[in-house]
Amino acid sequence: MRLIINSGGAQAIDDWRANFQAFAPGLEVAGWHDDVDPASVDYALVWEPDPGRLATFPNLKLIISAGAGVDHILADPQWPRHVPIARMVTARTQTEMAEFVLTSALMLTRDIKRAVDNQARRHWEFFDSVRVAADLRVGIMGLGHLGVASAQLLSRVGFQVSGWSRGASRLEGLPSYAGQDQFGAFLAAADILVCLLPATDSTRGILNAATLSRLPRGACLINAGRGSHMVARDVVAALNSGQLSQAVLDVFDEEPLPPESPLWSHPGIIVTPHCAAIPDRRERARHTAFLIAANERGDALPNVYDARRGY
Ligand code: GLV
Repeated sequence: MRLIINSGGAQAIDDWRANFQAFAPGLEVAGWHDDVDPASVDYALVWEPDPGRLATFPNLKLIISAGAGVDHILADPQWPRHVPIARMVTARTQTEMAEFVLTSALMLTRDIKRAVDNQARRHWEFFDSVRVAADLRVGIMGLGHLGVASAQLLSRVGFQVSGWSRGASRLEGLPSYAGQDQFGAFLAAADILVCLLPATDSTRGILNAATLSRLPRGACLINAGRGSHMVARDVVAALNSGQLSQAVLDVFDEEPLPPESPLWSHPGIIVTPHCAAIPDRRERARHTAFLIAANERGDALPNVYDARRGY
């Protein structure tokens, strides 16, 4: 059985091999540019595979996304439509995302960016009113595994959490909104808006001027979905007008975010380098080995890409 890997570059392959040794000792692990017979490749674990390459493996049984999203695979016009794609959603991914959203929400609650900026100027500015989690309503867009885990953690800490999803919601015990009809009511009740949607045709540009204008004035934004969800100039305009007060942005249209981007230096924006939920290689090898074993047994796989939903 052979797995080919495109994640982390050639320098990561020894580490991948060592990790697969622990979880799938019989598996042959090849690097993306290794000289292997394409017909011998059974499985592919990939992040942003170069267009056309997946289609060269005639016996591919399963594509495993190295991340939770599959947009980086669908971007290949020739990806083999008959091969299922499994998304990398592990318990660790959920914890990482939930803790990222919590960290961001607490930083926004306590205006930590302002203190850090003041520190750079050796400027002591006393904050005379302090907010706590329970003062703020957090609206989470996207109620998949990552959205639900984030909602639960934030709710445990005291934030007033609600959720929104395109279809019927899965946010047990917390208010949830569904579909376009309830989008406005959801937004009107979100002091902190969190985007954890999948990147699909229907979610592209959803964080735009019209959406942001329906939030309470001075709301905050956390985007840990995809850069394509956000119309960056609308976010900047909303920050400049005071409609938004602060934003934590982890994902961008172009990554790495180019040095000339105005987002880097905007006083209302915290930029993080697409690091919200990136399970380490050991965790991804463990999950990949589990998926391969399950697939070989003919078991149904979790979190498989569904073309009708688009994720
Ligand atoms: C990263 O953004 C992922 O898709 O897991």
